[in-house]
Amino acid sequence: MKKLLEIQSSVRQENSISRTLSNQFVQTWKTAHPDIQHIIRDVGIDPPAHPTELWTKANYTAPEARTPEMIAALAHSEQLIAELLGADYLLLGVPMYNFSIPSNLKAYLDNVVRVGRTFAFDKETLTFEGLATGKKALAILPSASDYSPGTPMAQMDFCKPYLRAVLGFVCIEEVTVVSVPN
Ligand SMILES: Cc1cc2nc3c(=O)[nH]c(=O)nc-3n(C[C@H](O)[C@H](O)[C@H](O)COP(=O)(O)O)c2cc1C
Repeated sequence: MKKLLEIQSSVRQENSISRTLSNQFVQTWKTAHPDIQHIIRDVGIDPPAHPTELWTKANYTAPEARTPEMIAALAHSEQLIAELLGADYLLLGVPMYNFSIPSNLKAYLDNVVRVGRTFAFDKETLTFEGLATGKKALAILPSASDYSPGTPMAQMDFCKPYLRAVLGFVCIEEVTVVSVPN
């Protein structure tokens, strides 16, 4: 069964454009894919913790050498990564906050973009390889202003390029972005 992972990051429940459009997309998508398993990860309501010193130490310690405290520090991150790696499709609701993505979504990304888990680093060649292969993503990006190419505000959009870059880094390269100036 294919899995659709919906990641919402608006802090608003009411009148949220990213949530409303995502819901509409999911309803339509489900009529075409009735067997899809739909999982919601709502970092707008329930943000993951930011990485800490212990978390970082644990991340750079080989799994077999991690202490119980290190394992505990990475537990939620491991859960988020398993969820992400298990998904075939991603739907992201990403409102622009101060020209970038919401900080709760950044905390989510800090938890899932991890060496040895979603990307590999080759010490010999100093090259990276994304490990979150075989996924397609749709991102719905509402903003108060218009950042379309050629508009005066276009250069202030750090949301779209960042999202594409960070998803591409872990090998999620088929990303459709729908900007929604409102
Ligand atoms: C903290 C915060 C920062 C925002 N910063 C920007 C911004 O830099 N540029 C912009 O065009 N809109 C900005 N907005 C407006 C939101 O992007 C816009 O209201 C969007 O529709 C919010 O998504 P939502 O409707 O799904 O909650 C900001 C809103 C909030 C709450």
